[in-house]
Order: sequence, then structure tokens, then C-alpha cells
Amino acid sequence: MALTTRIGVISSGRGENLRHILESVRSGRLPAEVAVVLADHPDAGALRIARDYGIEAHFVDPSGLDRAGYDGVLAEHLDRAGVDLVVLTGYMRVLSPEFVRRFRGRTINIHPALLPAFRGLDAFQQALDYGVKVTGTTIHLVDEDVDHGPIIHQVPVEVRDDDTHESLKARIQEAEFRAYPEALRLFIEGRPKVVGRRVVFEGREVERS
Ligand code: GAR
Repeated sequence: MALTTRIGVISSGRGENLRHILESVRSGRLPAEVAVVLADHPDAGALRIARDYGIEAHFVDPSGLDRAGYDGVLAEHLDRAGVDLVVLTGYMRVLSPEFVRRFRGRTINIHPALLPAFRGLDAFQQALDYGVKVTGTTIHLVDEDVDHGPIIHQVPVEVRDDDTHESLKARIQEAEFRAYPEALRLFIEGRPKVVGRRVVFEGREVERS
């Protein structure tokens, strides 16, 4: 990867993972630059956060476009910004196979559960309903299936007896804010190789936080 890895972020929402990634870049812990932020909602918090940090940010309007057409517009933005790595932070649309192929091995997602458990929507409620004692967060490469690609990093989070949806979500998201920048640093510096479903790192070890 280039000396400074250029990241393109795609989001549907609040943007708190983006904020923590930007803080890690700013403090020098993450050797990368966020080159562009894209969102499918005009009022996505991620767009506001990006602009606060002086980063190019675009609302990409999905209306009138099919999935491949929409992803084609996303890809144009990413190519124009010269991104090396595509980072999804709470992006709630399923990517087209064309997009996945084009950015294969360099599109990363975060999911709020220990995959392969609780793929899809509201992983917090799924974990509570199932009664697991441990859930967590997973950062993984994106493939054609939802919440499915090879795993880069996982962090467990205990489920407490008195947890509500909100309390569990808050603890998982706290874990995510540390885990995502750390996983990106590992991916950028760690010389990753994908062997079957396994991502192995020939370079640095992950720092446990
Ligand atoms: C995060 O908890 C992330 O794991 C989840 O959306 C939230 C985004 O928060 N992603 C998914 O559920 C994707 N399947 P943010 O906008 O504040 O970063």
C-alpha cells in the first residue's frame, strides 16, 4: 500500500466510528488519510463530521438508481479521490457484486456482533433475544454476502444480566470506537494475506486495548 493509505468512508448514519478514525489519524496512531466521505442520506452525521474535519464529503442520492447504478456513482467518487481502502461505517445498503469485485480485498466493514453470529439488522437485539453471554464487534473484509467476508479483528463484549438494548449497544459501540482504528492500522501495517477465509498478518501484532 502507498506510504499514506487513502481511505474512502461510506456511511448511512451518525458517523461516530468515522470520528474515532479521524481522531486516530490526527493523533498519528493510524497511518492513513481520509480522502472522501460518502453517505446515502443528506443529513447523515458522518457528512457533518467529515466537513468539521475539513474532509471532502458528498451526499450521493440513491433516488432513481438501481443498486449497480448507485454503486457505480460511489465508485466514481472513490476513484476520483484516489482511495486505496474503502471503509464502511454503518452503511446499511447491500453492495452490488460489481462494486465488491472492483474493490475486492480492500473494502472493510464493521458489524456489531461476533460474526458469524447475528448477521443482518439489529445485532444487539438478536444477541439479547438469543441470550448469549458474550457478543462483541467484528471488522471484516467485504465479500458478496452480507456480514460474511474474512475477519480482520474481533473484540468480545460481555452481556450483563441487566442489559437493555441501549446499554448493550452503548458498550459494543464503545468497543468499536477503539477496535475500528486499531483494525485499520493492523490492516495497513500488518502485511495481510487472505488464506481461504483467514486473514493472516505477517507484520505487526494487534495492540490489545
Ligand atoms: C455501528 O455500531 C456499526 O457496527 C453498525 O452501525 C453503527 C454505525 O455507527 N453497522 C451495522 O450494523 C452494519 N451491519 P456510526 O454511524 O456512529 O459509526
